[in-house]
Amino acid sequence: MTTPRVLVVGGAGYIGSHMVKMLVAAGYSVTTLDNLSTGYRDAVVGGAFIHADLADRPALDRLFAEQQFDAVMHFASYIQVGESVKEPAKYYENNVTNTLNLLDAMIARGIKRFIFSSSAAVYGDPHTVPIPEDHSKDPINPYGRTKWIVEQILSDYDIAYGLKSVSLRYFNAAGADPQGQLGERHEPETHLIPLVLRAASGRAPDIKVFGRDYDTPDGTCIRDYVHVEDLCSAHRLALDGLMQGRNSSAYNLGNGNGFSVAEVIAAAERVTGRKIAITDAPRRAGDPPRLVADATRARTELGWQPKLDNLDTIIAHAWAWECR
Ligand code: UFG
Repeated sequence: MTTPRVLVVGGAGYIGSHMVKMLVAAGYSVTTLDNLSTGYRDAVVGGAFIHADLADRPALDRLFAEQQFDAVMHFASYIQVGESVKEPAKYYENNVTNTLNLLDAMIARGIKRFIFSSSAAVYGDPHTVPIPEDHSKDPINPYGRTKWIVEQILSDYDIAYGLKSVSLRYFNAAGADPQGQLGERHEPETHLIPLVLRAASGRAPDIKVFGRDYDTPDGTCIRDYVHVEDLCSAHRLALDGLMQGRNSSAYNLGNGNGFSVAEVIAAAERVTGRKIAITDAPRRAGDPPRLVADATRARTELGWQPKLDNLDTIIAHAWAWECR
């Protein structure tokens, strides 16, 4: 197999930057395209960089005319569930319309391999947990709907244009580069683990627990935290599969272990050796009580084996990054 030439859209963001680092280290030819709206130029630690926006179709056409790519990985989307409820237009425009721009520019140049960052949010409030991929798709917020709309577009584009795609439905991405070079840098930060660690480091006064009255053993919400490095290894396997001519598919990416908010805070106290101040707060709108992946399909079809699936390891890597 010749070295795949990969365009990583959103390669300056949290997961995208870890992906670029992994692909470059493995010898792939990598180009990052990012508008730097939420990403950081210095997070792109290898390969070529293009500063462009997916809304700019002529820029995409120029890029694909000048350079050849075997595949495109697409990480560039807005990810805040709460914001998507207040500003759905922003989400449909970026996550759907701009993705269509990218897909149409690819099709026009005959690029037919696509790896898409989807989300557990496509399932909404699940009726069975762990959740298999064939669970009904009933997103409960605009963010989740944008991801499901793109997945449906991808299946139509496969039939009509022969676009082969893999949609990877992330559960709760967490952790940081084990070598300490990269980590989560969302502003504002809304995710549990980095916020708990800000409370541990003193950058925040406390961690707010959004609801203790859920139907779970300790009353707090349960999530399946998956290391960013393991997410990236699944992308690499998906890419190699498409390069070998595999068909389109969708996979859950999670460890299959659920941890409650209270358990995450306890683990963070264990890992950091610090006492973390907790404030009880009302439920956050749109939070399902329990999201845990059945990732059997990724394990059997992609051969995916998460290596950093221990919660304390995930938190330790995030803590090393917070301490930087
Ligand atoms: N939480 C708190 N306090 C905080 C932040 C979060 O108690 O300060 C709780 C949330 O209420 C939730 C859990 O911690 O119960 C995890 O929350 P995150 O915001 O870290 O993650 P989510 O599960 O809400 O969201 C993640 C992804 C989304 C994706 C979703 C799938 O970040 O992109 O999973 O539903 F849509």
